[in-house]
Amino acid sequence: MSAVFLFRRDEDIDKFFGTEKEIKDFVNDNLKKDKNLFFLRSTGNSVIFVKIDDKGDENDRLEQLRRSGAEAWDYLKMTADEKVRIFTEDETTAVAFAEGMTLASYNFNLYKSKSEDFSLKEIHFDSGNADTVEKTLQSVFWARDLVNEPPLNLSARELAQRFEKMAGEEGVDAEVFGKKQIEALRMGGLLAVNKGSVAGPSFTILSYKPENAVNQKPVVLVGKGVVYDTGGINLKPTGYLETMKSDMAGSAVVSGVVKAVAGSSLPVYLIALIPATDNRPGGEAIVPGDVITMFNGKTVEVMNTDAEGRLILADALAFSEKFDPELVISVATLTGAAKRTFGRRVIAGMGNDDEALEALQTAGFETGERLGVLPFWDDYSEALKSPVADLKNIGGPESGAITAGKFLENFVTAPYVHLDIAGVSFLEKRDLYR
Ligand code: BES
Ligand code: ZN
Ligand code: ZN
Repeated sequence: MSAVFLFRRDEDIDKFFGTEKEIKDFVNDNLKKDKNLFFLRSTGNSVIFVKIDDKGDENDRLEQLRRSGAEAWDYLKMTADEKVRIFTEDETTAVAFAEGMTLASYNFNLYKSKSEDFSLKEIHFDSGNADTVEKTLQSVFWARDLVNEPPLNLSARELAQRFEKMAGEEGVDAEVFGKKQIEALRMGGLLAVNKGSVAGPSFTILSYKPENAVNQKPVVLVGKGVVYDTGGINLKPTGYLETMKSDMAGSAVVSGVVKAVAGSSLPVYLIALIPATDNRPGGEAIVPGDVITMFNGKTVEVMNTDAEGRLILADALAFSEKFDPELVISVATLTGAAKRTFGRRVIAGMGNDDEALEALQTAGFETGERLGVLPFWDDYSEALKSPVADLKNIGGPESGAITAGKFLENFVTAPYVHLDIAGVSFLEKRDLYR
């Protein structure tokens, strides 16, 4: 078992090692060299010292601690120690460090015949929230596993089965519609995207309603569940296809949120709606020029079959009305434009509920999952006008993340926030603790 000491002032070291001059000298030497993270190894057990930057913003400090946790994990891995205890004066710093270390330790070895079995086994720290922290981290791992699963093993139907299984474990109600029910409901967007596919679509409803819920009307989360996006007839070229198993990341996020909230028994009435299908070219696939009728009766001229996410989300957003939600939030790997605008570490947020957006932005700073807010003015809707239908599904070459959001807004009646996670949802290799 290794020990981590998080300290703010140099004197804090005295409290732990007051009498041990050798250790104090070691610490002072490192601090003189301007290091804020250093290691001491003694008979298999390491001691890791992390100096907390005491200046500046509290959120920056917590993010720095998460990053230090990831750095310390690399060291533990090198020394093959799987257990660690964190010592610190306040619990928020311990939690941030534990988060970073745990998240960095994630791996996906399911398909390696010789998998490295080294993993973080135990991480000890004092916190009144330790159970919630653990549940949240488990939910993140669960979402990451879903995103990493190859499409061969994750059809829309299998995805729905994973949600059902998780719901059973967490005391969440689950209902799954197959192709027949989706046809009966006339979810024209989901059915249109599914037309090029041999496998059927699915539509999952997860509902968590604890008796002590603080909200009477539910918060409805809608997650994009495109289990593979080839682009359809507007086929994506090499270079754009390779990561498209991650096009169901929105569904992994919203179901992961339900798992975390229910698993921690938070008093929140929450519903998740997940439309799922793959998007492929096929004999029956829709083509640019087709006009389809959505769940709420609006017609859409499909001008690009690669703008499929908004078609399946539109049906789910319209379906949300039946729950009379307080707030609707969609989460989707929706546009390359969001990725080009904000890069890999920032979510593109937009919507017509400023209060909710601000709350999400604050939460984003606190958790190191920052939100860049885009304008959502009605001018952006002009680009979605169609000569033959109520709307078309692409908005031209400019401001693509916003026009996608404006498209979706047509299908929601409740206050609405849209999170485009195309930039942040997939990494080819580890980035800090992500
Ligand atoms: N799934 C993609 C968006 C995407 C791109 C996600 C990169 C993750 C990384 C989406 O379905 C798509 O293809 N969007 C098109 C829309 C365009 C045709 C209007 C895009 O962004 O190019
Ligand atoms: Zn697409
Ligand atoms: Zn897509």
